[in-house]
Amino acid sequence: MKNYKRLSVSIAFAMVALLFGCKRTVYQRDNPNSLKEVFKDDFFIGTALNINQINKKDAATDSLISIQFNAITAENIMKAKLIHPTWGQFDFDAADKFVEYGKLKDMYIVGHTLIWHSQLPPFVQAITDADSLRQFMELHIHTIGQRYASSVDSWDVVNEALNEDGSWRESVFYELLGEEYIVEAFRKAAEAAPNAALYYNDYNIEQSQKRAGVIRLIKKLQEAGVRIDGVGIQGHWNINNLQLDAIEESIQEYAKLGVKVAITELDLSVLPNPWDLQGADVNQQFKGGLNMDPYADQLPDSVGRLLADSYEQLFRLFLKHRDKISRVTFWGTNDSQSWLNNWPIVGRTNYPLLFDRNNHPKEAFYRIISIKNNLD
Ligand code: G3I
Repeated sequence: MKNYKRLSVSIAFAMVALLFGCKRTVYQRDNPNSLKEVFKDDFFIGTALNINQINKKDAATDSLISIQFNAITAENIMKAKLIHPTWGQFDFDAADKFVEYGKLKDMYIVGHTLIWHSQLPPFVQAITDADSLRQFMELHIHTIGQRYASSVDSWDVVNEALNEDGSWRESVFYELLGEEYIVEAFRKAAEAAPNAALYYNDYNIEQSQKRAGVIRLIKKLQEAGVRIDGVGIQGHWNINNLQLDAIEESIQEYAKLGVKVAITELDLSVLPNPWDLQGADVNQQFKGGLNMDPYADQLPDSVGRLLADSYEQLFRLFLKHRDKISRVTFWGTNDSQSWLNNWPIVGRTNYPLLFDRNNHPKEAFYRIISIKNNLD
């Protein structure tokens, strides 16, 4: 009788917890509902952190991160404009907190990013001669790389160096130093962070022309005898245009070069895309009418199902190539935080991640978890 009573109380407790969305209790008790647990033999499962998350402003989100993810990427705080605002003056406060966050939770820590044409501080934009730019690169990469040499596990050394046709982007680095800048960037990163994995990271590089450019870039580094360990396919895709064949071919082609592949910034937009835009060029902004923000109140079930279908197809593919894939990182933790609420149109309501605005798992979450649970 006593046992029966105890059991009834436990069941009642569990039901109340479920009703009030106390997902933390449920996840902790139930390992099959943790992404990092479910995929622990396959690849790291990561999330990008913004400054509020690094500062643990919201306890529920912090708990969700601990339970679901075993890798973190700095979404913004390591970008040159923020970490190196004036020549030789570094602001390490947020980056120090970020690596501390990862160490305390025993996570794989990804530094993003050392050399990128965007989010540059004004003093770099003002550089007009090759020597000064070389000096900046050396100071920047050596200072940051060495400071975090024992804490950052992987660096996005160079970000988005190519155009859509695979040619070199006309950034300040390319204009003043030519294509050799990429060799120098990886050489300096290898000197400063000898134990970190070194990645080239870009969007749309599953597309054939841009992929060919990345292959040339990797071969160039390898021929120069400079270390590159992996390529990051960002994975900013749309449920209406998911190109699984191109993604699979890319994973295979990159792996053939002897480098690892990471999916570094995964999110799937569910919103209409002006002019069939693809990728993640932050400079592309459009003004939208109401029809461009169709789910401002809530995500219809039918669209949530399409999102789940897309995530399921992707994760089946990732699992098929788990020997080549080191990490799958989502670009954010829950939908409220995603950059896709403001790109390419500001102020829309997008639903690209696995957790909704209340940190509750969506159908897409259960779908990818169930692939693995059904395989076992
Ligand atoms: O922090 C300031 C805030 O003080 C200010 O009031 C506000 C006004 O605009 O801006 C805030 O900074 C914004 C920052 O995100 C933090 O929210 C910047 O304007 C905004 O440009 C910046 O956007 C980031 C974008 O990169 C540009 O750096 C996104 O959050 C971030 O998700 C996005 O991430 C990039 C990857 O680094 C590279 N691959 C593509 C990906 C998506 O664009």
